[in-house]
Amino acid sequence: MTCTIIVGGFFGDEGKGKIVAHIAHQDRPTIISRGGVGPNAGHTVIVGDKEYGVRMVPSGFLYPDARLMIGTGVLVDPRVFKHEVEMLGVGDRIFIDSRCSIIDEEHIARDKSSDHLAKTIGSTGSGCGPANSDRVLRTARQAKDLPELSRYLTDVPMELNTAIKRGENVLLEGTQGFGISLYYGTYPFVTSKDTSASQIAADNGVGPTRIDDVVVVFKAYPTRVGEGPFLTEMDRSVSDRLGIQEFGTVTHRQRRIGQWDGDMARYSAMINGCTQVAITGIDRVDKDCFGVTEYEKLSRKAREFLKMAEDDIGYPITLISTGPEVSQIIDIRERR
Ligand code: IMP
Ligand code: MG
Repeated sequence: MTCTIIVGGFFGDEGKGKIVAHIAHQDRPTIISRGGVGPNAGHTVIVGDKEYGVRMVPSGFLYPDARLMIGTGVLVDPRVFKHEVEMLGVGDRIFIDSRCSIIDEEHIARDKSSDHLAKTIGSTGSGCGPANSDRVLRTARQAKDLPELSRYLTDVPMELNTAIKRGENVLLEGTQGFGISLYYGTYPFVTSKDTSASQIAADNGVGPTRIDDVVVVFKAYPTRVGEGPFLTEMDRSVSDRLGIQEFGTVTHRQRRIGQWDGDMARYSAMINGCTQVAITGIDRVDKDCFGVTEYEKLSRKAREFLKMAEDDIGYPITLISTGPEVSQIIDIRERR
């Protein structure tokens, strides 16, 4: 019976959504709750030939038996929320903490019209920075102020802590990635809040002593969208030759692609309090590994990469993603 946090170890878009969906199907949590900044994050989840990009609903929605929650620290854009709830048909099992701060149209306008945010930082334009700034200035609205959200309101920390006390499994999903943390990232080219596991716990009102597992997700070839330093960034021609091209879920901007960064991975694992590691994109290290679901069937090249990454990080790699679809994964958590 565990409370597990899942966070991104690089600059976001590590494939957390898929890892959350997989863990949910295996571990059958009763609640999956989202932490992180807000609708600036997009999680892509692919099941069969269907692709979902979610910005407010937890990416664990694919697992039908969990209640879905949005933690107190998260910013809620009521328009994005309504759209996703209708599209995914999750209205009867999703809840918002009544103290979540609201993103108003005016926050989005400020995000997009500010040269500093839109151009220098390369924000997603989703209003998160201005909304968090109003939250700190104590002028923001809260979810409980909006009549259209009243049917979804709950006390998320109370729900989670009660479930944990009963011995149920719960999942807390992080958004963004370590490198764009307001505290630990490449300031000022960062998002408007910390993104580490401690923040995800705080966003959900779960104290540090109640967390059992922290899964940090790294991708074999890290990516970054928006401006800011990226030490291992490759020239576009090199990543093109490797056949790697990615586009953002929220902004559709082309992502910058980099080589594996062992130093960043180690530092990120430390601050996140990592207990287990998930590595995504192993099919890019060796195309022959695409879709493989058994560790023994991984090629030598892939295993050598995993060994190197594990030595860098200093914590066991227990989940290995071999393709974008939810079932394309090797889960060796039990064996470790
Ligand atoms: P903001 O969070 O929209 O203010 O954007 C600040 C910076 O964080 C920009 O470089 C964004 O591209 C980046 N960013 C914010 N959220 C995400 C995410 O979920 N994935 C990747 N980058 C993000
Ligand atoms: Mg994303």
